[in-house]
Amino acid sequence: MLDLSPQPGDLEPVETASIDELRALQLERLRWSVRHAYENVPHYRASLDGAGVHPDDVKSLADLAKLPFTTKADLRDNYPFGMFAVPREEVSRVHASSGTTGKPTVVGYTKADLATWATVMARSIRAAGGRKGHVLHNAYGYGLFTGGLGAHAGAELLGCTVVPVSGGMTERQVQLIRDFEPDVIMVTPSYMLSIIDEMERQGVDPRGTSLKVGIFGAEPWTNDMRAEMERRLDMHAVDIYGLSEVIGPGVASECVETKDGLHVWEDHFFPEIIDPVSGEVLPDGEEGELVLTSLTKQAMPVLRYRTRDLTRLLPGTARSMRRIEKITGRTDDMIILRGVNLFPTQIEELILRVPALSPHFQCVLNRSGNLDDLTVLVEHREGALAGDAGEALRRLVKNSIGVTVAVDVVAPGGIERSVGKMKRIVDRRPKR
Ligand code: DLL
Repeated sequence: MLDLSPQPGDLEPVETASIDELRALQLERLRWSVRHAYENVPHYRASLDGAGVHPDDVKSLADLAKLPFTTKADLRDNYPFGMFAVPREEVSRVHASSGTTGKPTVVGYTKADLATWATVMARSIRAAGGRKGHVLHNAYGYGLFTGGLGAHAGAELLGCTVVPVSGGMTERQVQLIRDFEPDVIMVTPSYMLSIIDEMERQGVDPRGTSLKVGIFGAEPWTNDMRAEMERRLDMHAVDIYGLSEVIGPGVASECVETKDGLHVWEDHFFPEIIDPVSGEVLPDGEEGELVLTSLTKQAMPVLRYRTRDLTRLLPGTARSMRRIEKITGRTDDMIILRGVNLFPTQIEELILRVPALSPHFQCVLNRSGNLDDLTVLVEHREGALAGDAGEALRRLVKNSIGVTVAVDVVAPGGIERSVGKMKRIVDRRPKR
């Protein structure tokens, strides 16, 4: 694989700023953001007043912990535009996330917010190894989802030639990769696997394409999946994280030269890790729920937004800003099986240790009597014999996680494909 490390002068000065400079900048921006939210969004005025805190009480970064959290329910309650801190006429664009229940949550951007977003996305693509002049195949969905348009603007700002394919029409994705010879692909990891399968179906060698780097996010994926992708595609596989409520993709990103977790672009987003049950702030290094505060957003500032994503904060490496470890899962994707907590990413890791099994899988939850049970539905690889692969996986799960699951090995193509985020958990439990 090519060395895509940045050259001197490639980075923005803030990416290599000292921690002291960064903390000073964050404090100044945090004070602005809290005041802006308090003065312009009735929800924040009410929640801060209710907690007995005033923007003037934020004198240090640690004072952030005095502020109440913001949740997805707060955004829903203020549907559609109630969380905006500027007149609607100043909002240049909205996006929305569908969510699984009820109303979508709506987010808004001023012109300046769109410029900030493009900046952090360009920074993310560059961190992943993308460069001015690269052809970039963007298979994130365009539309209300933030993936497509977010990646698009960042790639243009960096100076790439963008191919705005969006998700779907997998045959054509392969055709365009052959014909346009992109250097970079941006897509969800699960849809990348479908594209690889389609290449193989068409007799195209995935290791022989022009692709040098894949920038994968929008859903959890493991380091074992990284190894699988890098082996099958002979390119770098790099992680990108973000969520619509905070801006979209580009909140945190991995650097291709280290691939050791995602640097949070802390000049725009302040991260905290909390205990998801008590809400208490945890020290760096401990695992818990990621909470994010926007420092510069105009149209829709968010104060202490609870992401529900589980990770740890680690010190900077390739950049001075702190990293988050690869996301293990969401608090709402945690399966509790006979008292044992389990995430689909743990199943993914174990599947990839069984050579005959492919990473196309789903976790199907059912209930017999009062107990929940889990069946792992997984495809065997093309040309491989399923043999005792199912039993091997069952044993691996039992030995490493400590629970008994059923494994159902199906033929390639037996599990429904998604062109965006893959639904890993299928809940067939009867409603109580
Ligand atoms: O998924 C934004 C995005 C687009 C990120 C493209 C990266 C690439 P939402 O639809 O609002 O926004 O979903 C956000 O997706 O809270 C996580 O649970 C999950 N997620 C996003 N990136 C990652 C990642 C976009 N790299 C939710 N690893 C987040 C694990 C991720 N989970």
